[in-house]
Amino acid sequence: MIKLQNNLPKTVIIGAGGYIGRHFLNTYRQIYSDLIGTTRVELDLLNPDVRRLRLPENTYKEALILAAIPYVDRCELEQALSWKVNVTGTIELIRQLTDEGIKPIFTSSDYVFGGNAGGYKDNSPLCPNTEYGRQKAEVELRIGEITQGKYLILRFSKVYSHVKGDGSLIDAMASNFAQGRTVRAAYDQMFCPAYIDDVIEVAAFLQSSGITGAVNLCPSKSISRYEIARALAEKMGIGDALIEKISLDDLGLCVKRPKNTSMSNDRLTELMSYAFTDLDNSLEIVGRLWAAEKKDVKNAIIC
Ligand SMILES: NC(=O)c1ccc[n+]([C@@H]2O[C@H](COP(=O)([O-])OP(=O)(O)OC[C@H]3O[C@@H](n4cnc5c(N)ncnc54)[C@H](OP(=O)(O)O)[C@@H]3O)[C@@H](O)[C@H]2O)c1
Repeated sequence: MIKLQNNLPKTVIIGAGGYIGRHFLNTYRQIYSDLIGTTRVELDLLNPDVRRLRLPENTYKEALILAAIPYVDRCELEQALSWKVNVTGTIELIRQLTDEGIKPIFTSSDYVFGGNAGGYKDNSPLCPNTEYGRQKAEVELRIGEITQGKYLILRFSKVYSHVKGDGSLIDAMASNFAQGRTVRAAYDQMFCPAYIDDVIEVAAFLQSSGITGAVNLCPSKSISRYEIARALAEKMGIGDALIEKISLDDLGLCVKRPKNTSMSNDRLTELMSYAFTDLDNSLEIVGRLWAAEKKDVKNAIIC
């Protein structure tokens, strides 16, 4: 059970139909049973109008912005559209929320960093090298002035769950192993995956404590995709046969991914003492969910 503080500010969830938004909405309803979340029907970032939600009248204090086009390739291929959604519309939304006295919480990404060094701190200079990262960085750079400092940025690495079939990080790998498919996993792609329940608990704590500025919301431990694949395969009792160890460079992606976007969580550690879920436990749990469906055939390659 996720622990929330009773003084959690009433928070509208923008992008409640998305992967992370659904989890936040369901959880925050533990405290506010009437909490609303928006999909693009109620609030379209291409033309946001937050006034029709009547947030102040309904005692909302904060807005968690999870709506976005969060796909790296799509942002590159559809730069103009993704910029309109992820930057122009999001900034307009932040402006409107601020005018209404609602504190915006912007969800950003480790892709605001270049990925050469890793260990990026909460206040490290932003140096994105993908369009998606540039769009997130642009909002990060402008939100302070628009809100006069009354904002929170939550920077995520990869967020995973234990829900079978939702396609998140571990689930997608486990599903492929179970179907006998080879997983191509890069040894040089390093990041700090976080369990969704931890993300919600920490976000709720930061909100309840009135924290402002940017916080890297992730465990301190970084790991490569290859190491995750190996550990998961071991838990599922299938050895290394279905893992192809590669470099990110071998993937031939149309958009080059940053290699090491691992972030330090120094600020979070100063703000609260929190034990993140051990990734190993999550691998065990999700691996077990899929192990029963294991097949021996090898019929496809994914990455
Ligand atoms: N998941 C991760 O591991 C991760 C890591 C780092 C950062 N983040 C950030 O966390 C946030 C949430 O990510 P997520 O994984 O939950 O993404 P998601 O599942 O794709 O959810 C994003 C939501 O935004 C909505 N949306 C897209 N265009 C919109 C528009 N014009 N107006 C209103 N809503 C629109 C989408 O609606 P439709 O379904 O109708 O398109 C979708 O429901 C994003 O800002 C993402 O960049 C996520």
